[in-house]
Amino acid sequence: MMHRRTLLGLAATLPLITKAYAETKPRLATIGAGQVGSTLGSLWVKAGYHVTFSARTLSEAQEIAQPLGPLASAATPAQAAASADIVLLAVPYRAIPQLGHDLATALNGKIVLDATNPYSFRDGPIAATAQQNGAGPTTQSYFPGARIVRGFNSIDMSSIQSNAHRSPPELAIPIAGNDPAALKTIAQLVHDTGFDPVITGNLTTAKLFQPGNPGFEMEQEAPGLKAALHLPSNTP
Ligand SMILES: NC(=O)c1ccc[n+]([C@@H]2O[C@H](COP(=O)([O-])OP(=O)(O)OC[C@H]3O[C@@H](n4cnc5c(N)ncnc54)[C@H](OP(=O)(O)O)[C@@H]3O)[C@@H](O)[C@H]2O)c1
Repeated sequence: MMHRRTLLGLAATLPLITKAYAETKPRLATIGAGQVGSTLGSLWVKAGYHVTFSARTLSEAQEIAQPLGPLASAATPAQAAASADIVLLAVPYRAIPQLGHDLATALNGKIVLDATNPYSFRDGPIAATAQQNGAGPTTQSYFPGARIVRGFNSIDMSSIQSNAHRSPPELAIPIAGNDPAALKTIAQLVHDTGFDPVITGNLTTAKLFQPGNPGFEMEQEAPGLKAALHLPSNTP
């Protein structure tokens, strides 16, 4: 049986090992700490990533981060965008133009995972633009230098919470983007969140899984999702 002092020593080093492991992974941040920001951010912390949560109301981000331990922190949206390698957009779509104005420079060259959805009843005229042109290209127009990947927008967060790391086969998450390296990084993040990534193609294909389109709210395993979206079965 292991000596009590050895066990205590192991317990003391565990946070250091966890932190060292996290240093090998990209640093993540959420803009928005509501249902999407808190659900995904919490799963990422559990997967061993550093996550900075942000919202205009700092206390909201602090309430999410505090119970999650040393890998989680809270900051303003500007600080979060500056500190991270990958930034999740988890805000009502109407906030995108203002965030583009405030954060586009800080996000130049960074991967931006866009989980937002446009709804006219909630988001005003920009929703019509995003419905017509696709949310991917519309978001990209406000963050011209960012490597936008659409993903995690098509499935309700209650389902994300309950299906994460379920027994295989995992639930498929469609993702789309123009930058192959960014897509590869987000595909790995989807795996680490406990799901099976399916790349639908470039940013325009993200329309397939935004509201009003067949892939939206589609809870399928990869073969079923690919068939429903008419993607080749050998799609990664
Ligand atoms: N809920 C779901 O299951 C789900 C699933 C997939 C996709 N989505 C989409 O994901 C987005 C977020 O949904 P949600 O359910 O997480 O919404 P939510 O619970 O209302 O949270 C929105 C968050 O965004 C923050 N926020 C709003 N405006 C902001 C701004 N200008 N700058 C920084 N932060 C801002 C809010 O905090 P402050 O007001 O304090 O800033 C809040 O933390 C929406 O576009 C939604 O359609 C939702």
